[in-house]
Amino acid sequence: MGVRNKITVVGAGNVGATAAHWLAAKELGDVVLVDIVEGVPQGKSLDLAQAAPIEGFDVRLKGLNSYDGTENSDVVIITAGLPRKPGMSRDDLLKTNAEIVSKVVDEVVKRSPEAILIIVSNPLDAMCQVAFRRSGFPKHRVIGMAGVLDSARMRCFLAEALDVSVENVTAFVLGGHGDTMVPLPRFSTCAGIPIPELLSQEQIDAIVKRTAGGGAEIVSLLKTGSAYYAPSAAAVEMTESILKDKKKILPCAAYLEGEYGINGLYVGVPCKLGARGLEQIIEINLLAEERIALQKSAAAVQELIDVLGI
Ligand code: NAI
Ligand code: 2OP
Repeated sequence: MGVRNKITVVGAGNVGATAAHWLAAKELGDVVLVDIVEGVPQGKSLDLAQAAPIEGFDVRLKGLNSYDGTENSDVVIITAGLPRKPGMSRDDLLKTNAEIVSKVVDEVVKRSPEAILIIVSNPLDAMCQVAFRRSGFPKHRVIGMAGVLDSARMRCFLAEALDVSVENVTAFVLGGHGDTMVPLPRFSTCAGIPIPELLSQEQIDAIVKRTAGGGAEIVSLLKTGSAYYAPSAAAVEMTESILKDKKKILPCAAYLEGEYGINGLYVGVPCKLGARGLEQIIEINLLAEERIALQKSAAAVQELIDVLGI
């Protein structure tokens, strides 16, 4: 890494531009915003740069319609693609976004061969697999954002039900970023106390269900797009852990090679993120029903991989 970190965000739409905002506000590095729409990445980065004197952050911001200027990025966050529309599943986006992500990855890796890629485009786990295969990067440098978002949603709902600070609440979500995700209440806590000791099974079931449908809930409210504040904050938390070598354990989509009994597939698991990217996958013993739910979630990801034939 250079003296100043460099972060490229591909896709200057809702998630990408908001990620650029959090990145700049936290001074995590200079930010390059790339999009195919002429003027949009330039306009958004200029606008953000003009917020800097007011907010008092000091990073360089640049908007581009090409990848020249993204060279030697430390982290590249890929949000390019189409978002969900009401009634549309994440999987409907599969083929279109696979093509977009492939093209983006080709351009990125040519110029930043040592970068760590954080994938956001949906369907998330399948897009990670596309980026992993296409880039030829080792698995520790291609990581997907979903679990941080899904567990943040669960934390938000738990804190509301318990009437406590969200800062007291941790939550644990495994599996693919889709309807089959596996929220695990027994590994979720409030001030260290396991959630099943604090809420009824009925309350927990309702929160688990709302978490799994968390993305769709926002789509049905917004009508013209999908969530972006929490998704972008989640990608930035991962970026920060990498750039500052914090070694935070965060739920991320990782390429599994036997962990949790899953082989050759991206699925969400607890990951340690540091300067090398994904530094460790944390394995925990699951109950039979949890293991079955995870296998089911992995099977849903595998179906998409089979459709793409990668
Ligand atoms: P958006 O439509 O606001 O922005 C997407 C941007 O990508 C647009 O500005 C578009 O011009 C750009 N784009 C399209 N093709 C491109 C290409 N070839 N090169 C560069 N840029 C290109 O969508 P939004 O809300 O920002 O979502 C972006 C993606 O992230 C979607 O696929 C969405 O489903 C996904 N997402 C994933 C989440 C997760 O948990 N993993 C959470 C939220 C969104
Ligand atoms: C979400 O969970 C759409 O995947 C996106 O909000």
